[in-house]
Amino acid sequence: MLLRTAGPRSFWLVASLCLLTLVLAGCNAEQYPQTTLLPRGDFARIADDLLDTTVKWALLVFVLVEGVLIYAIFRFRGKPGDPEPHQTHGNTTVEIIWTVIPALILAVIAVPTVKAIFQTSATPGKDALTIEVVGHQWWWEFRYPEYNLTTANEMHVPLGRTVSLRMGSSDVIHSFWVPQFAAKRDVFANRETRMWFKAEAEGEYPGQCAEFCGIQHGRMAHRIKAQKPAEFQAWVAHMQTLKKKPTPASAPPALAAGEGAQKGPPARPGSVAAATSAGEKLFLAKGCVACHALNAYDAPKGMVGPNLANVGARSYIAAGTLKNTDENLARWIRDPQGIKKGVLMPNLGVTEAEAQVLVAYLRAHQ
Ligand code: CUA
Repeated sequence: MLLRTAGPRSFWLVASLCLLTLVLAGCNAEQYPQTTLLPRGDFARIADDLLDTTVKWALLVFVLVEGVLIYAIFRFRGKPGDPEPHQTHGNTTVEIIWTVIPALILAVIAVPTVKAIFQTSATPGKDALTIEVVGHQWWWEFRYPEYNLTTANEMHVPLGRTVSLRMGSSDVIHSFWVPQFAAKRDVFANRETRMWFKAEAEGEYPGQCAEFCGIQHGRMAHRIKAQKPAEFQAWVAHMQTLKKKPTPASAPPALAAGEGAQKGPPARPGSVAAATSAGEKLFLAKGCVACHALNAYDAPKGMVGPNLANVGARSYIAAGTLKNTDENLARWIRDPQGIKKGVLMPNLGVTEAEAQVLVAYLRAHQ
């Protein structure tokens, strides 16, 4: 009825409202995990509660203002032949009211806002787990000084223990963003920034750099793996076994005899040891070793490329660019510049056969 009498303009209005409803219905937060609307940590919850409060106030104002507006439109609608309405210019009382009310609302919202600012910028307690975060063009380095561990792009955190992030950059300004746990914090080369959060739910949570930092800014993602405390401790214990291999000359006799590969009989072709040995040789010969460390425990600082000690077990490679499949890993080794142009890793002229050997070698680094 409304449509038939109201003409084409109203039709388009109703049509766009329907479309908007459909589009909004598509915004299912569960489907898009990189959202701040599903907090999974205390820091994020503080921010989300504040947003809820603000939105409720905004909704109240919207309903009141639109209600009065719609009422006025219908109640005082002009009819043909009506005399010209009485003209007024300024009404001091009304102007005071509509200045004071918003000021009061802002003052009320300021209370939880200031409280949230103080809460989220407080220094975490001494029992917090410190993780050092270093932004690189274009990947993330994570160090655990408490355990003397280094890893890249995938940060493991225990549930229920506050994580204290101490962050910096090795080059330009980046921004560390973990939507479901905390907020965004810029990281700088010459200044430490801090943030903390406590994970409340197990799972794998994506995050990414949130400050334009060069042409591959969009491919500077990371993942946070929140684990039960026992699982996290198992991960730490495992990572601590990923140590630098003793060089043959310096290996203690027991190790050299036990681990055989270095000094024992030559590996049979086709055996796992042979593949590893060939991979290790290529890793050295192609120069990979100049930028990547293969030990998580006591890893050297200041490496140009991501630590690869457990690269075989990660979900993604190239900072969230590719799923960590053998095929993708081989593609990446052969043509990093084709996949992520401008990345510091050069194309090293690796053949398809050599890439397969390197993939097998890296896959063994779990
Ligand atoms: Cu790093 Cu954007």
